Amino acid sequence: MDISVIGAGYVGLITAAGLSEKGHNVTCVDIQKERVELINSGRAPLFEEGLEEILKRNVGENLRATTDLENILNTDVTFICVQTPADFDGAVDLRYIKKAVSDMGKILRKKDSYHVVVVKSTVPPGTTEEILIPLLEKNSGKIAGKDLGVVMSPEFLREGLAMRDFLNPDRIVIGTYDKRAVKIVKRIYNANCPVFETTPKTAEMIKYASNIFLATKISFINDIGNICKKLGIDVYEVAEGLSLDHRINPHSMRAGLGWGGSCFPKDIRGLVHKSRELGYEPKLVDAVIQINEEQPKIMVRLGKNKLGSLENKKAVVLGLAFKGNTDDVRDSQAFPVIELLLREGAEVTAYDPKAMENAKKVLNNRVRFADSAEKALKDADIAFITTDWDEFKNISFDGMKRKIVIDGRNILRDRRDIDYEGLCW
Ligand code: NAI
Repeated sequence: MDISVIGAGYVGLITAAGLSEKGHNVTCVDIQKERVELINSGRAPLFEEGLEEILKRNVGENLRATTDLENILNTDVTFICVQTPADFDGAVDLRYIKKAVSDMGKILRKKDSYHVVVVKSTVPPGTTEEILIPLLEKNSGKIAGKDLGVVMSPEFLREGLAMRDFLNPDRIVIGTYDKRAVKIVKRIYNANCPVFETTPKTAEMIKYASNIFLATKISFINDIGNICKKLGIDVYEVAEGLSLDHRINPHSMRAGLGWGGSCFPKDIRGLVHKSRELGYEPKLVDAVIQINEEQPKIMVRLGKNKLGSLENKKAVVLGLAFKGNTDDVRDSQAFPVIELLLREGAEVTAYDPKAMENAKKVLNNRVRFADSAEKALKDADIAFITTDWDEFKNISFDGMKRKIVIDGRNILRDRRDIDYEGLCW
């Protein structure tokens, strides 16, 4: 099938690459010229395992990128994957998706045949029906459900495992009233998993509820971990015992520095904002956020307790990506750790295997960057492990002045001969 994907960022590019692997003819559209050029040269503008191999294989064959939105006219289906960031007060900023949808609508006016629009961006419940469909109808002159099929189909991929998740999802959610569109979207995904058909508004809520549930699990085990630490109990053993109950699975149960990334923080705040607007105070979700905000403070406090004061101490932060296997630093928990260390007067050196360039844009020259863990750790007083990169599992702390290590991800294997402390164990 001929498919266009608007927005060649994280989700858009994974979607485009994944659909091209399934044999579809895919055109990505993005407003960033450099990004488009990079993709067309077979290189990925972001790090995700397996992505570049697919680009190398399919670009020039059944996958291409362009800045020209008119190309959607040569396709039957368009996936919308533009960003929906948080506003200054936590509300979801719909500016980009409204613009994309309006521009698309104007172009679709020229098309005679049926066209399917799949909203993959995460949007607050009600957005597709109340905002996006009216915008599409107004700009295209078409009627949804008749000559335009509109589907809300959220994306559930995990960064770091995104290609695998896209190609082997746990489930696909299709929210629409248009039976013709359902058939087409199912054929496109051609996935070996449950397909859940519902309304657009419910599909939107399923996405928010999924992210909030997963963040709740992480904050829950961190809360338990913080209590365990005080009691001298290993929270990992507790989590293992807990997870043997089939109602509680072992995923998202690793106590540590907490959640971050491009989705959980903004989506959780987005739904909290929506909920307050509707007059409901979401107490559990608020607590989930609070626990997460506490973890970096506890981590730095543990370091301070070891040294008495962090002032003028050489502190190393190992990991800037919000999780291992990605170069994405959006809302990484490493940043509040760094901010707190700087506030305590520490001299901070940071290292990450993949995310240094992205982190430099956030941190500027307020910290030093080392191009290897070994160089970062040389003569350091204390190290904080903030991201679960495999590279950090067997790291050597021999070059440090004082071998104090605060492990925020319970990742270090050999804990002998160092002054080791886990964040909540
Ligand atoms: P991103 O910021 O990485 O990418 C968005 C892309 O859209 C950018 O390349 C931007 O230049 C492009 N764009 C913006 N306006 C455009 C327009 N009018 N025409 C063409 N291109 C345009 O965002 P990301 O992370 O891919 O997220 C996209 C959506 O997917 C968001 O709603 C997000 O919440 C959701 N999502 C993200 C996941 C993730 O792991 N990153 C997972 C699941 C959902």
